[in-house]
Amino acid sequence: MDVIYEIPMSLSIDFDAINAEHEKLVSILNEALKIIRTEEDRSVGAVEKSLAALSAAMQAHFNHEEQEMASLGYGDLPQHKAQHARCVAKLDATCRSAADNRIMNKTLLDEVFDIILDDVIRADSGFKSFLYAKGILL
Ligand SMILES: [Fe+2]
Ligand SMILES: [Fe+2]
Repeated sequence: MDVIYEIPMSLSIDFDAINAEHEKLVSILNEALKIIRTEEDRSVGAVEKSLAALSAAMQAHFNHEEQEMASLGYGDLPQHKAQHARCVAKLDATCRSAADNRIMNKTLLDEVFDIILDDVIRADSGFKSFLYAKGILL
């Protein structure tokens, strides 16, 4: 299977399981893409299941990340939490509207990928800088 969705190496955060969790989100998305490309009836079942799994994995990742940030005294945690909540709400809304309209296509998955990148690029890069400044990442 072609891997379509990928997080650039430059965005990796080699701290605890953060990287692995980001990769997990993207791998669920790649599975959903595979389903879209191979199943005849792409509007039902399996893709919705993948998106539900993605939503659960995203929630688990955000909880874990927030715990790590709290234990390290990360000052931007309140803003970061708000950003996570926005990602969850956006993913929920996207999945709900896709299910309501029976739309499961690559455009939808691209939107979901954007939501993942909202966390990985726009928000977590601030945490990455913090880890460098603290000497936790070298
Ligand atoms: Fe985050
Ligand atoms: Fe993250």
